[in-house]
Amino acid sequence: MSATARQTAPMPDDIRAMKGGAPIVSLTAYTTPMAELMDAHCDFVLVGDSVGMVLHGMPNTLGVTMDMMIMHGQAVARGLKTAMLVVDMPFGSYEESPAQAFANAATIMAETGAAAVKLEGGVAMGETIRFLVDRGVPVMAHIGLTPQSINTLGGYKVQGRDESAEQVMADARAVAEAGAFSVVLEKLPATLSDRITAEIPIPTIGIGASAGCDGQILVHYDMLGLFTAFKPKFVKRYAHLGEDAEKAIAEYAKEVRARDFPAKEHLFADKAPAKGKSK
Ligand code: KIV
Repeated sequence: MSATARQTAPMPDDIRAMKGGAPIVSLTAYTTPMAELMDAHCDFVLVGDSVGMVLHGMPNTLGVTMDMMIMHGQAVARGLKTAMLVVDMPFGSYEESPAQAFANAATIMAETGAAAVKLEGGVAMGETIRFLVDRGVPVMAHIGLTPQSINTLGGYKVQGRDESAEQVMADARAVAEAGAFSVVLEKLPATLSDRITAEIPIPTIGIGASAGCDGQILVHYDMLGLFTAFKPKFVKRYAHLGEDAEKAIAEYAKEVRARDFPAKEHLFADKAPAKGKSK
C-alpha cells in the first residue's frame, strides 16, 4: 500500500513484504516538525546517528550516545502517525555482546516506541541480530560503508570495489539469515548492490547504492540543502533551505539595524482592539 493511502504505520513484517514491489521510501529525521512533514510520504523514518554530525556539529557519529538517540527518537515519534519509526543503535551500545545489544535495544524501543532498531555490521553481527530477533526486537541491518567503523575502514570510501565485494556479499547473506527484516546498503558499486538485491530475500535500502534497490534513504539535511559542510556524490539536493535561511537571517539583521523591524503591524497598542479586530 502507498504511504499516502495508509491509515496506520506499517510494521517491520510489512516492510519485509515490500521486497521486489513498489520502492520503499525513507528519510532520516531528528525533530518533531520534520517528522510531521515526512509522515505521509515515507514508509519508514529513521532516527539516524547522523544526528550527531548534522544537528550537534560532531565530526563523525562515534560520540553519539544512547541519551541522544532516545531524546531524538521521542521527538520524531511525536511527529509520526503513518510512517514506521526506526532508531539507530549508537556506537558502543551493541557490539560487546548480544546481551548488551538486547538491553540497549529494549531501552530504545521502550523509551521511543520505535518498531525496530538499526545496527551496523554484517557477518560479525549475525549472532547479535539473531539474539535480538529471537527476543522480539526487529532489526534493520546496515552494511557496506558503516560510518561507525570509519577508523577501521580507512574513511568514508566506497566499499566492495575489489575482492572485498565477496565479503560484502557474505555480510548481506549473514544479516538476512540472522533474521534482519531489511538492510541498508551504503556506498557500494551499483552492480554489487543489484547482485545483493537479487540474491537476498529481504528488502535492500540504498544510500549511494543503486536505483534497483528495494528502497532508498537519504539524510534529510542533505537532500534539503540544510547541511552544506560537504555533499556526498550520492546526495541529490531537492531544495536549498540552508541558503534561503541564511538570506532570511541577513535580511532580518539588516532590518533590525535600520530600525525597519519591528514595523507597526508587529506592535501592540495601549488598549486591546475592539472584538473581531486583530490583537
Ligand atoms: O545515521 C544515518 O543517518 C544512517 C543513514 C545514512 C542510513 O544510518
